[in-house]
Amino acid sequence: MALYPYTELLRYAIEHKFTVGAFNSLNMETLQAIVGAAEKKNVPLIVQTYHAHMEYAGPGYMSAICEVAARNSSVKIALGLDHGRTYEQAKRCIDSGYSGVMIDLSSEDYGYNVAETRKVVELAHSKGVSVEAELGKILDADQPLSAIASNYTDPDVARKFVKETGIDCLAVSIGTAHGFYKHKPVINLDLLKELVDTVPCPIVVHGGSNTPDEDILSIVRTGVAKLNVGTDFFAAYTQALHDFMQEHGTKCDIMKLMEAARSAVEKIACDKIDLLTKFMV
Ligand code: 13P
Repeated sequence: MALYPYTELLRYAIEHKFTVGAFNSLNMETLQAIVGAAEKKNVPLIVQTYHAHMEYAGPGYMSAICEVAARNSSVKIALGLDHGRTYEQAKRCIDSGYSGVMIDLSSEDYGYNVAETRKVVELAHSKGVSVEAELGKILDADQPLSAIASNYTDPDVARKFVKETGIDCLAVSIGTAHGFYKHKPVINLDLLKELVDTVPCPIVVHGGSNTPDEDILSIVRTGVAKLNVGTDFFAAYTQALHDFMQEHGTKCDIMKLMEAARSAVEKIACDKIDLLTKFMV
C-alpha cells in the first residue's frame, strides 16, 4: 500500500524533533499543492479530509487520488479522516483505503467516547490503520478566549483515556482553535508540555491556521507530533481564484486559473513546513 499509517510518520517526527504537517485537502489541486510542498521540503505528510469535505468528495475519490499522489511521491504520505463523527463514517474511510482516522466524540460523555473510540480502534488496528481522538474540546476560533480556555484538556483524564482506548495519537485543547481567530490565541504551553511529557501517545494540536509563527514554533518545541492546518490553505485557494479572475476575467483559461490556486496553496504549505521543521535533527 502506498499510504502509511500515522504511527510510522509520528514516530519518525518525534525521533527527529519535528512536527508532521497534517494538511487538509478536498480536491486534486489542494492535494497536489500540499504533496508538492512536502516533496520540496523532503518531509513526510499527513493529508487529511475534514469529515464534511470527505462527504463532499467521497472517501473513494480522496483515497484514489491520494494513492496516486503517494505512489509517485518521494516522501511518505498518510491519508486521514479529520474529525470523524461516527464509527460508520470512520469505517467507510477505512474500507476506502484511508491510513488514519480521527473519531471526535469530545462533545459526548466520557463513557460513550471511550466505548465508541475503542470500537474504531479495534477495527482500524485490524487493518493497520491509525486512530486519533480528541479530549477537551477544540472550539472554533471566533469563540471568546475564556470559552476556549474552559475547554482545555485535563491531563489526568487524557492519560486514562489513552490507556482505556488504545488510540495512536490524541488531539488536545490548549488554546488553539479552528478557523479565523477573532482574538489572538493564548497558548497554554505548560499544559501542552505536561500532556506531551505524560500522556502515553503522540500529541496533536489542531487549528494551525493564522496562529502566529512564534506560537507555532513554541508548540513545535514542546514535542507535539502532528499539527493540523486547513483554513489557511482554503483561504489561499479561494483568494487566488478571486485574484486571477479579477485580473483575467471569468473567460480565463481554467488550467491557468487552477494552477494559480494550486501554487498559492503550495506556497503556504512550504511556509508552514519551514516552521514545523525548524528544530529538526
Ligand atoms: P484550521 O482550519 O484552523 O487550520 O484547523 C484545522 C484543523 O485543526 C483540522 O482538524
